[in-house]
Parts: sequence; C-alpha cells; structure tokens
Amino acid sequence: MGLPYFRIDGGTRLRGSVRIDGAKNAALPIMAASLLCDGEVILHDVPDVSDVRFLAELLTKLGSEVERRPDGSMRLVVRDEMSSHAEYDVVRKMRASICVLGPLIAKRRKAQVALPGGCAIGDRPVDIHVRAMQRLGADVDLVSGDIIAKAKKLRGAEMFLGGPFGSTVLGTANAMMAACLAEGVSVIEMAACEPEVVDLANFLNKCGASISGHGTPRIVIEGVRELKGCEYRVIADRIEAGTFMVAAAITNGDVKIENCRLDHLVAFADRLAAIGVNVERNNDTDVVTVSSSRRLEPVDVTTQPFPGMPTDLQAQLMTLLCLADGNSIVTEKIFPDRFLHVAELNRMGAHLRKEGPTVIVQGVKKLVGAPVMASDLRASAALVLAGLAARGTTIINRIYHIDRGYCRIDEKLRELGGDIQRLEADD
Ligand code: EPU
Repeated sequence: MGLPYFRIDGGTRLRGSVRIDGAKNAALPIMAASLLCDGEVILHDVPDVSDVRFLAELLTKLGSEVERRPDGSMRLVVRDEMSSHAEYDVVRKMRASICVLGPLIAKRRKAQVALPGGCAIGDRPVDIHVRAMQRLGADVDLVSGDIIAKAKKLRGAEMFLGGPFGSTVLGTANAMMAACLAEGVSVIEMAACEPEVVDLANFLNKCGASISGHGTPRIVIEGVRELKGCEYRVIADRIEAGTFMVAAAITNGDVKIENCRLDHLVAFADRLAAIGVNVERNNDTDVVTVSSSRRLEPVDVTTQPFPGMPTDLQAQLMTLLCLADGNSIVTEKIFPDRFLHVAELNRMGAHLRKEGPTVIVQGVKKLVGAPVMASDLRASAALVLAGLAARGTTIINRIYHIDRGYCRIDEKLRELGGDIQRLEADD
C-alpha cells in the first residue's frame, strides 16, 4: 500500500452545505478529563480524527475503556488506575498528550508524562504547565525526558499562568483539571479564554466540579471530593468552520456552513468582512452562509489569544490574501515560527516574504497547481485551499498531517463540488 496523497484540480466554485464536526481541541482535553471521573462519560460530536485516536490509545494504556458506539458517540470508563505513565511513544505523536498531566496528578497522586519535544510549528515549552502543578503542591522532576510529578495531596492555590506569548490553552486546562480535586480554592490569573477552555469547564461542572469565571482571564475553582461521569456534547470546531469559510471565499463560491459558532469566530469574521467576503448568519441559528465575488481587498492580520484572530487560522487566511488586490501583512504573535506554508505557497505562484514573525503578502492574480508538501495540520489545510483556487493540478504529499485534525475534509469538499481525490502513491 502506497502513501496517501491528495490530487486537486482547481478552479471549481464550491456550492452547497457542509456540517462542521465537534472541535478536536475541545474533545482532547475533555477526553483526558474523563480520567478524573468515577463514572461513565459519554461524549457526542467527538471528531473521528487521528489525534483523537492517539489520545484514545493513550487513555487505554492508562487503564480506561474507550469505545466508539454505533451512534458515533464515545464512551469512556476508567477500569484501572495502576498506571500513571504517558510514554514517549504516544506523546511524541501528539503534543496534546500533555493534558493528561493534571488529571493523573490529581486523581492518582502521581504522573509521569514524557516531555513532548519540538514540533513543526516551533518550540513548544511546557514550563507553565509544570509551574501550575507546583503551585498546587506537586513535586516535579525531570528524569530521562519524562516529567515526574508527585503529590500526597493537592492544595488550592492562586497562580498566574501568563507566558511570553500570553495565556496558554492546555496549561489552563491542566491547572483547571488538577484544581478540581485539590483541597480548597484555586484562582487562575491570566487564564486562557478560548471557547475550548470554556467547554472543558462546562464538562467538568456537569461532572460535579465547581468552576466559575471560565471564559474570562480569572478562573476560580473550588475543589470537590470527587467527580462523577456525565453525558456531554462537544462544541463545534471553529477552526474547521473557518477553513470552510475560506474554501468558499477563495473559490468565489456560495456555501452554507452548519454547526458554525460565529460568536467563536468574531475576529476572523471581522477580517473576512474587511477582505470583502460576505458572511451571513441565518436568523439566529448556527448556520452561516459565506459567499464571495471576485475582488478581495488586502488587510493586515495579527494572531492573538481569544477573542483575537486564532493562530490556527493564520495559514488559511494568508492563502486567501495571496489572491487579494494589493499587499497584506500577516503577523504571528502566538507561534512566531509557524510559517512552514510560506515556501510551499510560493511554489504555487504566491508572492510571500517572511521577515521575522511577519509575512508580507503581495497579492497575485492567480495561483498555479504544483506538487507540494504538507508540514503541519493547519499548513496542510492552507495548501488544500490553495489547490482548490489554483489553475491546474496540485499534488499534496504527507496528508497524514491533515487527517490529524480534519474529519473527511476531502469528502466534504467533494460534496461541495471540489475536485479533490485521495490517492495512493502507486495509483
Ligand atoms: N507556552 C509557553 N509555556 C508553556 C505553554 C505554552 O511558553 O508552558 C507558549 C507557547 O509556546 C505559545 C503560547 O504559549 O507561544 C500559546 O501556546 P498554548 O499553550 O496556548 O498552546 P497549546 O495549548 O499547546 C493549543 C492548541 C493549538 C493552538 C494553541 C493556541 C490544542 C490541542 N492545541 O495548543 O492547536 O494553536 O492552543 O491557540 O488545543 C492545532 O490545532 O493545529 C493546534 C496547534
């Protein structure tokens, strides 16, 4: 069996409707939080993507039973609490594995989690996660590449979780999860405000936790003795929604996007409006129609923590700006090296110049198909978008990156009329 790749023949206008799946970045910490629960957890709308499968594998190794039920829901039950070791084997495949740190230390009094190491979008330290565990009373050591945290008892504490690039999403998630079972009250200052953090807090509260202030930079957690399980529906994936919004815009299409939370995409929708893309919410529902005429205005964009423009949509928006009528400036304030798509887009005829954490985008009249290489999840999505708009054929290799976070992206685009095929190297 050869390696799968995408072949895209660009130039078709996308039309029709697409439904957005549940959010990968909400589902992952919620799945990890099931380690804290003494009962059964049933989750709806967990996307069927490979990152979810990696975490399911890790949770199984940690003693959970993880099952996809015929109706698509996921059932998680902890059967055995003996192991507290998240090994490098799994962690290196997926950095988000770090989110088992908080639940393990809180519930099993011990956590051994391999340090994730570098990743394609740059250095991704976990010092703030460690600081949070220490504030709650854990002793933390680094032994042979593993974080080893131990605590007889966690105690509620005040903590400041800001770093050089602002708040941390999974760091806030880890602190919040651990604090749920600590004795007394914890306060997280400079907490991440992302909708995925709010979703995790809502899930934990449904299991019996006492969390308030989520969605603001100050989260207060009153520790409880135990958490039970619950049934919960994961929020819609705002990044998948944003990617389809660009797909509609870049093909001059007209697409109805269902299960799309526009209130989670305020900054992004603002940039689309400035570019000249029509984004309309249908009568107070979560259905959003996106259409575009041929003229795209250049804009400046800076990524920021929520409610600012998400870094996870930077590559996709840059791809749209490649075809704007003038020069745009894209600045990355979360992951300053997250520009692996730049060289690949230039292979397709874009005019992009990187200057430190900024890319100057000189709009061009057209992109042209080419063989390109996917490098990380969102950069790969950007190449798919470029392929849909380009003249001719684009071949995208290493698409396992895109399957980590997008569920059936090729099928969904085909249903909208896109000419995209998943092939194997021998085909
Ligand atoms: N940071 C530190 N120290 C830490 C933790 C983070 O300096 O201990 C820095 C990071 O290096 C970065 C900034 O803080 O500069 C923000 O990183 P954050 O911790 O918020 O990222 P994360 O929680 O590891 C999540 C998403 C990412 C998304 C970022 C930012 C998940 C599973 N991952 O990562 O999603 O880009 O928040 O919004 O939720 C993706 O889905 O493609 C993806 C990379």
